[in-house]
Amino acid sequence: MTALKEHIIRHIEENGPISLADYMGMCLYTEDEGYYMHGMPFGKDGDFITAPELTPLFGEMLGLWVAATWQQMGAPESFCLVEFGPGRGTLYTDMLRAIGKALPQCLNALEGHLVDISPNLRQHQQTTLQGALPTIKWHSSIADVPFNKPTIVIGNELLDAFPVEQYEQVDGKYYQRLVTTENDTLKLTRADEPSEVESLAEVTEQSPAMENFLAELRDHLERAPQAAALLIDYGSEKAIAGETLQALRKHKYEGIFDTPGQADLTWHIPFKRVCDILGDTHSVVTDMALFLTEIGYNIRAEQALRAARTPEEKEHIEATTHRLIDPNQMGAHFKVLGWCSDNLKQLQGFQHCYADSE
Ligand SMILES: C[S@@+](CC[C@H](N)C(=O)[O-])C[C@H]1O[C@@H](n2cnc3c(N)ncnc32)[C@H](O)[C@@H]1O
Repeated sequence: MTALKEHIIRHIEENGPISLADYMGMCLYTEDEGYYMHGMPFGKDGDFITAPELTPLFGEMLGLWVAATWQQMGAPESFCLVEFGPGRGTLYTDMLRAIGKALPQCLNALEGHLVDISPNLRQHQQTTLQGALPTIKWHSSIADVPFNKPTIVIGNELLDAFPVEQYEQVDGKYYQRLVTTENDTLKLTRADEPSEVESLAEVTEQSPAMENFLAELRDHLERAPQAAALLIDYGSEKAIAGETLQALRKHKYEGIFDTPGQADLTWHIPFKRVCDILGDTHSVVTDMALFLTEIGYNIRAEQALRAARTPEEKEHIEATTHRLIDPNQMGAHFKVLGWCSDNLKQLQGFQHCYADSE
């Protein structure tokens, strides 16, 4: 049994059942023992691989998107590039490299801000990004980000880390799922009284923590003189998620109670709900494949293929491009949300969405 599991069991024995979101929060964020609070979860030797950890081309293309958005903003003398949940700092590093090559003036104007809840990962990011920019600041919360200049926000696989509640339908009513103990193990139970939940699904997920974060983000984006954001995550275009909470460890799925603190717990983001909170008139959502294709990912991948020196390098470029773009892989399972303020024109990567809505 992990030390954290023992801790959670004792907590429930002393205080009674806890909500699923509280359980997920304890698994991910408990000081020292929470999943994001120790070790290095990403990469081949970790538990999962994110798009920027698959290939540097992903971060490079996002960097070019940032440079193009900065130009759309009228090339302000100074702007903030804010990444939420930067993990190892790989995406930020790749974006800076591409921006510096394509548009050095944009890099000169860039003030770096990274926001991560994990002191452990902030330290990794500081090592990775040492000397990368004259001004780069780290924060533990959105409340500390200035948003007083033109601002571009990036978040890859951030939203799926926010703790989620589940409600299950019994005789037409929804009951909140709770976590309790039985013979020194953890198991699900449900609240005695029903909750007010609008859904038709048998099990419905909601994340008050994500919704509070998004409402705060919207207020900050609206306050900035100009702002644009990209939020990328596993999810659907639905307003409400069904039962999607999952545990991943060493690239394999396991039960959510198996190894608390040692497995990543995530859920699938209902992007329609995200748009509702961020404001439908400012937000667009598309498949990752369509976004990447529109910003020229395939062209960049072909260029990289021509420059590849070894068969292994070629194979890696082909395999990672396929993984990111194929609809049966990340291409359609991942969605990209674009947000822009009224004083910005339509964002690159979403022209097909704007055309559809006209
Ligand atoms: C799945 S990882 C994604 C890492 C990186 N974006 C990538 O694509 O490789 C989630 C990241 O979000 C951070 N995180 C989780 N919850 C957060 C929160 N509420 N606020 C800020 N960062 C958070 C984690 O510490 C971690 O760095």
